[in-house]
Amino acid sequence: DTMKDVLGKYFTVGAAVNIDIVYGRSPEEARIVTDNFNSIVAENCMKGEVIHPEENTYFWDDADRTVKFAEDNGLEIIGHCLVWHSQPPEWMFTYENGDTVSRAVLIDRMYHHITNVVSRYKGKIKGWDVVNEAVNDDGTMRQSPYYKIIGPDYVRLAFEFAHEADPNAELYINDFSMASPGKRATICKIVRQLKADGCRIDGIGMQSHNGIDYPDLDEYEASIDSFAACGVKVMITELDMNMLPSPDDFSGADISQHFDYQDKLNPYKSGLDSKGRKLFEKRYLDFFGIYYRHRHQISRVTFWGVTDKGSWLNDFPVEGRTNYPLLFDRENKAKPVVEKIIKLFSE
Ligand code: G3I
Repeated sequence: DTMKDVLGKYFTVGAAVNIDIVYGRSPEEARIVTDNFNSIVAENCMKGEVIHPEENTYFWDDADRTVKFAEDNGLEIIGHCLVWHSQPPEWMFTYENGDTVSRAVLIDRMYHHITNVVSRYKGKIKGWDVVNEAVNDDGTMRQSPYYKIIGPDYVRLAFEFAHEADPNAELYINDFSMASPGKRATICKIVRQLKADGCRIDGIGMQSHNGIDYPDLDEYEASIDSFAACGVKVMITELDMNMLPSPDDFSGADISQHFDYQDKLNPYKSGLDSKGRKLFEKRYLDFFGIYYRHRHQISRVTFWGVTDKGSWLNDFPVEGRTNYPLLFDRENKAKPVVEKIIKLFSE
């Protein structure tokens, strides 16, 4: 039995897939996906900049193919993401002369973007990350172009537009650093307000880009409880484990010129040492212990990638870093912790 069979009794188990996987250019990773997971999300190809590069131009090929990959393999598929400050369709915020668009124009453009993307996959996508990363860690609202031009109600409008385009799709709000108390409070406030306004909102996505010493496990668990208490599903949407130290600790003007760059920033060039491997397991088992305790509140756990080789955390935030954040290694083998996670849920 694999993760999807055992953990699947409680929640769906997913992975973010890139286009190499869905086009058959990485058959071994595709096999890992179909063997171990029952849910996918597109890592990049449904983002605004990619799918809607110009006002009257949509690029559907990769997203269509990703939806087909899910259909062909009987996988649930989640849509990511409709409104996000990063990789947005930049043209959306300005007129041709470069001036910032009016509130009415941005609402209209956002309406058309959401309507066209959501309705194309109506009935096929289980749920959408409607608004991604709207809140700062301290709980203030992120000053994104959507916020600055439309105002705080851009969030409600986005949920209304998405619901109108596919009334049966689930709708989520998604963010990182969800263990932060300030962010937790604001997310809960937004969700309760959306409900009070009569909007559909089904779930809160906790991205969970975790590391060796963050987030604080008690705060993380407190957030699961607070989010569940809002009356919505809790989803772990982008799980991975950054095994490298933060480069903030030894940044220079040009970090790549730093004298001990290779040793300090890329300490595990040829693999984790035994201490690193132990820490990796411990961290994953800590989090899956939490997911087990909260298995009736959590409806999905999705990893942000399939194998270490394909993870966005390599070469991040500077070139030349080798990372080990996922459950499958560079040789497409399951790491030993996979069996331990399965065992945790078999008891
Ligand atoms: O596809 C182009 C390629 O044509 C071009 O030559 C190359 C040059 O830079 O860029 C390629 O696009 C890159 C894309 O990933 C596909 O590899 C973009 O530059 C790069 O910015 C993009 O990074 C993605 C990032 O989001 C920004 O959209 C990561 O893969 C993706 O894992 C990451 O995912 C985000 C979630 O959506 C939201 N939460 C955080 C998470 C991690 O940052």
